[in-house]
Amino acid sequence: MTATMTDTWWDSAVIYQVYPRSFADGNGDGIGDLTGLMERLPYIASLGVDAIWMTPFQPSPQVDQGYDVSDYCGVDPLFGSMEEFDQLLQSAHLLGLRVLLDVVPNHCSSAHPLFRQALAAGPGSPERDMFHFAPGSHDGLPPNNWQSVFGGGAWSRASPESVDDKDWYLHLFSSAQPDWNWRNPAVGDYFESVLRFWFDKGVDGLRIDVAHALFKAPGLPDAPSVTAVVDGLRSNPLVSDQEDVHEVYRRWRRLAQEYTPHRLLVGEVNLDPARAARYTRADEMHQAFPYAFIGLGWDADAWAGVGSELEDARQTHGAPPTWALENHDLVRSATRYGGGATGSERARAALLTILGLPGAAYIYQGQELGLPEVHVPVAERVDPMWSRGGVCRDGARIPLPWTQESHRSHGFSQGQLPDSPWLPVPEGWGNYAIERQHHDPDSSLQLLRRAVELRRHLTGRGIFGKHDDVSWTVQAGGLLLCQRQENICIAMAMGTGRVRLPAGEVLISARPLQAAGWLEPGNSAWIVQN
Ligand code: GLC
Ligand code: CA
Repeated sequence: MTATMTDTWWDSAVIYQVYPRSFADGNGDGIGDLTGLMERLPYIASLGVDAIWMTPFQPSPQVDQGYDVSDYCGVDPLFGSMEEFDQLLQSAHLLGLRVLLDVVPNHCSSAHPLFRQALAAGPGSPERDMFHFAPGSHDGLPPNNWQSVFGGGAWSRASPESVDDKDWYLHLFSSAQPDWNWRNPAVGDYFESVLRFWFDKGVDGLRIDVAHALFKAPGLPDAPSVTAVVDGLRSNPLVSDQEDVHEVYRRWRRLAQEYTPHRLLVGEVNLDPARAARYTRADEMHQAFPYAFIGLGWDADAWAGVGSELEDARQTHGAPPTWALENHDLVRSATRYGGGATGSERARAALLTILGLPGAAYIYQGQELGLPEVHVPVAERVDPMWSRGGVCRDGARIPLPWTQESHRSHGFSQGQLPDSPWLPVPEGWGNYAIERQHHDPDSSLQLLRRAVELRRHLTGRGIFGKHDDVSWTVQAGGLLLCQRQENICIAMAMGTGRVRLPAGEVLISARPLQAAGWLEPGNSAWIVQN
């Protein structure tokens, strides 16, 4: 740990999300792993970012690509070993990168030993009380009408073959992901030991999966309306956002503060800004992802509307906001913003815009390359959300293109040539390759590097205040303005024609300005007003 590592490094951090399966494959089996990641940490450091967040690599049957954890304190052999993780952590720290891990406290894998024990112990046992087991109704229906977020019912039979065991178990996601019963104090104690395990190793923080859903309404009553059932987590008040969950984060915050430096807690809280902000009160998590913002399309009014709500929430609860446009669950921004060349330009402008805002920014691997969503042929899809009737998230999880040449899936796999990577790489993927963009000063990759460096410089000089107020407006012609304090303005042209820029000095723009004082559609700029 270097002397510059302070407690609040995260307030204005840029954090790079690594999806290990698709980042770099060190042993050539077609699946990204810890060795591959370790070898390419210098690339991440070269982006100028402060930290990485790694999605799960713990032992798992991989039904939901690792979000079905069967051992919270291990490393799946698919990705490597604990020794390799320890080395990775050390290498990252030497490069000045902090490391955040994903913790999945809402559910585990049906292969988790405690769930196996619960199945074996039978109805009414203390083992079953670690999860939500309940008998179905007399006519063979599940205990309530809740639907899984991935589609289909949220309950499965504990022992479909048995006539004596009439229990069902609750799973908000796939049937391979049973939900923990957080009303049982043993669950909280178990997770405390999991947090300590990783914090003791020197992990710098945790991203908390489905953080708002751990507690369900007491008695698990039926959802009142079909909409509430179908919308699942977000609008079913019975399934998520229960008051009791906040006590978990108070406990975790105390725990995070036992360590030096303090560990960061960032939550996946998929609620509207006002409700989500309650999870980042002074004694709870430090950050929550901007869920209302992250999936928006190319719509200036929506950006300004949600941006203003997030600003109000910040002013109410004080925690600096976070910004993100992509993650492993969402359609890539270049595609969401219209696809093709236009979508790419917009995605690049949007990334520059969020990097100009106060608060932490999260970038998903490949976003720095402007990767679009890939259409994965139906036969090759592996996402359980897709197989249960929901959308397919595979298209945002395609292996990264490292080299322009197609050899070994564009340099993704090292060692022996794999038959094919775990998800197919499309034609033309090499055009986005890191190698290629590295040598092109006008590439998305080089823009990102310049923007992150400038952000650091402006923050260091106090020009970008860590706690700046932001006011969001939309001007004529679709010009989005984010005014930081009185003299810094982030502008993005979201309409169809060019728009006049506010007076001032342009510090950086997503593309060169074609005419001084004007911003072309799909371009953005940071401006200092004197
Ligand atoms: C989160 C993860 C997602 C996963 C789900 C269930 O939303 O980001 O990938 O499928 O939780 O763990
Ligand atoms: Ca591998």
